[in-house]
Amino acid sequence: MHDDLISKPAIEVKNLQKVYLARDKKKIQKTALKGINLTINKGEIFGLLGPNGAGKSTFINILAGLVIKSNGEVNINGYNLDTSVREARQSIGVVPQELTLDPFFSPRDSLELQAGMYGVRKKDRKTKEILSALKLTDVANGYARRMSGGMKRRLMVGKAMVHSPPILVLDEPTAGVDVELRRHLWEMVQDLNNKGTTILLTTHYIEEAEQLCDRIGILNDGNLVACDTKDKLVSLIDKKELIVKLQENFISIPDSLKDLKPIIVDKKTIKFIYQPSNLNFHKILKKINSSKLNIIDFEINETDLEEVFLSITQKNSSINL
Ligand SMILES: Nc1ncnc2c1ncn2[C@@H]1O[C@H](COP(=O)(O)OP(=O)(O)OP(=O)(O)O)[C@@H](O)[C@H]1O
Ligand SMILES: [Mg+2]
Repeated sequence: MHDDLISKPAIEVKNLQKVYLARDKKKIQKTALKGINLTINKGEIFGLLGPNGAGKSTFINILAGLVIKSNGEVNINGYNLDTSVREARQSIGVVPQELTLDPFFSPRDSLELQAGMYGVRKKDRKTKEILSALKLTDVANGYARRMSGGMKRRLMVGKAMVHSPPILVLDEPTAGVDVELRRHLWEMVQDLNNKGTTILLTTHYIEEAEQLCDRIGILNDGNLVACDTKDKLVSLIDKKELIVKLQENFISIPDSLKDLKPIIVDKKTIKFIYQPSNLNFHKILKKINSSKLNIIDFEINETDLEEVFLSITQKNSSINL
């Protein structure tokens, strides 16, 4: 690779737009991507979250060459998708959301065929290693149509790895995969990343994005509405809950606490929802103590990524980011 390409981002997308043309009688077009700007650096694990129909697969399928963009610029590993298609394709391995396997090929044949398509020479092929890493060795010679859904998805992951791409893109890799295998796939993704592969994945499991990803982008209705580390996204919400358990039943909330807008949970429990940016937990405790209420226990609930996701993607959200 040329020196100037080494320093380029893994994926760089500028003003990416996709309009699906109408095929139905009503001639309704669908704008699936409304001008996305996104840079994914080399070595990152980047997660793309978003509700159904947000445009995640459209984005990924454009990178994979399965969907033709309507507008904008895409660079993969420094190669422009319009002018250096071959180099861009060689730099990326994509696991699409839809299972597309030839039912009459065995996993071994599928991997060999895919490697052949990418021009990987026989001596450089890693079919055996890939089968083993994906725990498919036992079924390597059977028909793909006899495999379970989870096995098929793993084989799809394997197919995307045959040419050892520096960038691996996975569209919902763990959909329909059982808990144990999901963990196994996570480990594999982390392992590949530790060895230098850049990872882009979409998921509906927020836990997956939280655990795996360095940065998370949230797509909503064709727009990238947030993009940051998990901690920064969570701090955007600026909300915490303090739940206080008191020693005695209280009759009414003391006046001195009213400006904190307490919520009565039960006769001994009060909840305070506050913004950590302008009020801290010590100040609240001090006020409670000075109002002569005796605290026997308390709990702080932090915002999690799920709350961020919901507040960004739900139309009637009261939080503006
Ligand atoms: N081939 C197509 N023709 C017309 N519209 C399409 C086509 N593919 C996708 N769409 C529309 O584009 C929008 C984005 O779809 P996309 O599959 O990219 O969403 P997604 O975020 O991957 O959703 P999911 O979470 O359900 O996989 C949706 O409204 C979808 O109906
Ligand atoms: Mg999708």
